[in-house]
Order: sequence, then structure tokens, then C-alpha cells
Amino acid sequence: MRPRGFAGFPRKTPRLVPNLLRRPGGVVMQKASVLIVDDEPGIRDALEDILKDRYHISKAEDGRAAIKSLERVKYDVVLLDLKMPYITGLDVLKEIRRNRFDPSVIMLTGYATVETAVEAMKLGAYDFLRKPIGMESVKLVVERAIERKSLVDENRYLHKQLEDTFSFSRIIGKSRKMRDLYALLRKIAPTKTTVLIQGESGTGKEVVAKTIHYSSPRKNKRFIAINCGGVPETLLESELFGHTKGAFTGADRTKQGLFEAAEGGTIFLDEINTAPLSTQVKLLRVIEESAFIPVGGIKEITVDVRIMASSNIDLNKELSNGTFRKDLFYRLNVVRIFLPALRERREDIPLLADHFLQKFCREQKKTVRGFTPEVVEWFLRHDWPGNVRELENAIEHAVTLCSDDIIQVGDLPTSITSPTPEAGLSAIKFPFKKAKETFEKEYIVDILKANGGNVAKSARMAQIARQNLHEKIKRYGINAKEYASA
Ligand SMILES: Nc1ncnc2c1ncn2[C@@H]1O[C@H](COP(=O)(O)OP(=O)(O)OP(=O)(O)O)[C@@H](O)[C@H]1O
Ligand SMILES: [Mg+2]
Repeated sequence: MRPRGFAGFPRKTPRLVPNLLRRPGGVVMQKASVLIVDDEPGIRDALEDILKDRYHISKAEDGRAAIKSLERVKYDVVLLDLKMPYITGLDVLKEIRRNRFDPSVIMLTGYATVETAVEAMKLGAYDFLRKPIGMESVKLVVERAIERKSLVDENRYLHKQLEDTFSFSRIIGKSRKMRDLYALLRKIAPTKTTVLIQGESGTGKEVVAKTIHYSSPRKNKRFIAINCGGVPETLLESELFGHTKGAFTGADRTKQGLFEAAEGGTIFLDEINTAPLSTQVKLLRVIEESAFIPVGGIKEITVDVRIMASSNIDLNKELSNGTFRKDLFYRLNVVRIFLPALRERREDIPLLADHFLQKFCREQKKTVRGFTPEVVEWFLRHDWPGNVRELENAIEHAVTLCSDDIIQVGDLPTSITSPTPEAGLSAIKFPFKKAKETFEKEYIVDILKANGGNVAKSARMAQIARQNLHEKIKRYGINAKEYASA
């Protein structure tokens, strides 16, 4: 009935297996694993004895065996002898780097090979231990190496998670309008261009801003969003640009502003239309000169920050009544993104609905297969004044109430299932036959849109014979091709 497993669905976050997760308080959750590589059995055994209480130990007697083992197991630490027959420790280290295995490597070295050990450090070894090896120093160095490894893993894991969350695949939609949007995002993401994002409430302005940031070279720096309408006018300027001590009553210490905090990254000025004219002047200057003076300060601060802004009203109107500066508008408006209302891209509704269904099932640990055809019908007919956010909330509501494995009309919020007053009134103005036809025509158009103009699929969704649908399409003079998504 409804599309499943569409291409845009985000992949599950691949979990980089951090062998040990450090929880706040420094508790090591799992035993770390250590590979000991040395051609002398005596040394292998001695090291094993020292470390076996705390770690999982594996051993290899030469370079070849070590590489084999590294291919199979993700070790946290490798203790690696430098001088071995056939393949030297240095070669093993190179192999480790080349294959991007990422254990911390500690070289084991005699006096004669200290210089080579230094070379190994340059190649990315974490540390080296001189033979004869002291028990305490082994424990200490291995412990530190593991700490570093878990930090690197965690860092990488967090980064990956962020990137995954805001990769393009997280913006759901395959309608023409959305595909045009992706093409535009791909072009502007790598640049520093100022972007103005316009669209009704809940159309995804913030999601788009984040996506641009996390697809840009700035992704490792901060993305800071500030809702200009959410901060009292008198405080907005000091929030953005910071203030010096004593700049105003209550400024009892110097405070860094968000522009400085976002250095190297992106700042998203949400609802910029609500910023007072005085702040607009300062914003204009940051855009033009990348510089500003904190409130009460005298020294100018220079920053490298990409600016994005959003507005859920038409800024052109604000220009004509003088509440928004023209010069700022033109500076912001280098690239303007219009996000379509959900009712203008109804074919994306099933996709989004499915996406949110999976999201809330995961969150609430429920198994719900899908929606009844009546529910889909309601979804397609509703006007969604709150756009994607309204749909998301409706599905959260439905998943919470749903006691079956399929969402029924009764699970939906009444705001969706009770017809709007206008719709009700307009319908009763017509005689029954006309009202029915009006409904039928709208219904067919919606269902065609939802299925990209595919009549067979639409017939299946509507649970009527294809021939029957063809006849109706002809009767109402509908052009199915118009709704083709290709
Ligand atoms: N295309 C989309 N795909 C998936 N989720 C979306 C999409 N658009 C919006 N959302 C979700 O809808 C909700 C609202 O999006 P967002 O906050 O970006 O909207 P907004 O335009 O900034 O709204 P407002 O003007 O009210 O601030 C969020 O939970 C977001 O994850
Ligand atoms: Mg927003």
C-alpha cells in the first residue's frame, strides 16, 4: 500500500566499535585488547604476565603473523618489537597505517635501535619502550595508549554521528521541488556564501541550514543557531557580539559573543526579521567586513564566520514598511532558498510519514508496520499549516496511542481528522452529486501526486480497479503525466 524502503531513508549510523567506552567518571566499560608482537618467546610471555589481568592479550611471533591477526581483530594497542626477522616492526607499522587499522602502537626497542624508534614515532607510533622493559613502565604506557585510543574513537564516533545526522539523506523528499533544492545545496555547501532561507513555519529551515553547515568545509567547527525573536531586543546585540565589563547595568564581567564562539564555523540567525534596526546595522558590518565591536568595547574583533539567516515572513514586505534594512537584505540575499510548504509537495507526505513512523517506533521501542489506507487518505487531504513539524507531531501522537501494529484513523490527532470549517462549508454549498465529484477529482489528483503520476500504483493505493481509475481520470480531464516525478 505505502512505499517502503525508499532510497532517501537514512542508513543506520554505522557504529565504529569503540572497544571501550569511557563513561563520565572514567569507568572503563569493557576490557581492552592488546596484541604483543615479538620474536622472543620470553619477552612475549613476560609482557603477557604483566598485562593479562587487565586486558585481553593476543600474541604474534613475527611481523607476518601480526599483520594477519590485525586484519581479523580490532586491537586497541599493539606492542611491537622493532627488530624481527623477515618483516621488521617498522614495516608492520607502515602496514598498520596503510590499512587504516587504528590501534595505538608502542614500539619495543633495544639500545641499538632507539633512532629507528624515533622514526617510528614520526610514522605515527604512540610511544616506545626500551628493553629491558620495566613492569611499571609497561603498565603506564599501555594504559595511556588506551586512553588516547578511546578518546580518538569517541571523537571520531561523535563526528560521524553528526555528519550522518545532517547528511543530505536526512532531508526527506523526492518531489521535484526537493530535488531542485538538493542540487542547489550541493552547489552552495562548499562555499562561504551567505544564505537566506525562507519558508513557512515547520518547513525545515533549520534542518537545511544545518545540512549546509555539516556538508561544508566548516563542519568540524561550530554551528550556532540563535533565534533573534527569542532574545529581548536589548540583549540581542550583546548575545551576538559580546560585551565588555560595565557596558550596561548588569554586565558585571566581559562576555564573549556568539560570533566569536562560532569562529571558523557557521552562525544561523533564525527569524532575522525580528532583529531591531540597530542590530541590523551591526550585522551588515560583520557581513561586509567580517568585523565588529563588542557592546561597550573600543577594539574591533575580526572573525571568520559563515552567516545564514531565516525568515518565515516575506522580507520584501518588511523592506517597504521600513522595518528591515534594504542594504542588509541585499547582502543576505546572495543565495535565497525558498522551502515549499508541505501542501505544495504532497507526494512527499507518504515518504515523510514513513520516516517519522520509523523514528518514533525506534524511540518508543514499538513495532508498527504502517498506516491504514484511510490514514494515508487523511494525510493526503490535510492542508498541513504547520508543515513537516505538524506531520512529525501527528505521527508521534499516533505512535504513542497506537495499540495495534498498524496506525488507524482513531490514533490521529483530531486536528487532522476533523475537516476545517472552510472545507465543510464549501462542500455543503454544492448539491450532493457535485460535492462528490469535487471530492473525487481532488482525491484522484492527490493520489496521483503521491504516486508520481503512476496510475497502476494509484489504483492500488485507492483500492479500485485500474480500469476504473483510468475512466475517472478521463472523465475529470486529469492529466496524470503532469504528476510524474521523473
Ligand atoms: N525535509 C525534511 N525531512 C525530514 N525532516 C524534516 C524535513 N523538514 C523538516 N523536518 C523536521 O520538521 C521539524 C521542523 O523543522 P525545522 O525546525 O527545520 O523547521 P523551521 O522551518 O525552522 O520551522 P520554524 O519556522 O517554526 O522555526 C524538525 O523536527 C525537522 O527535523
Ligand atoms: Mg526554525
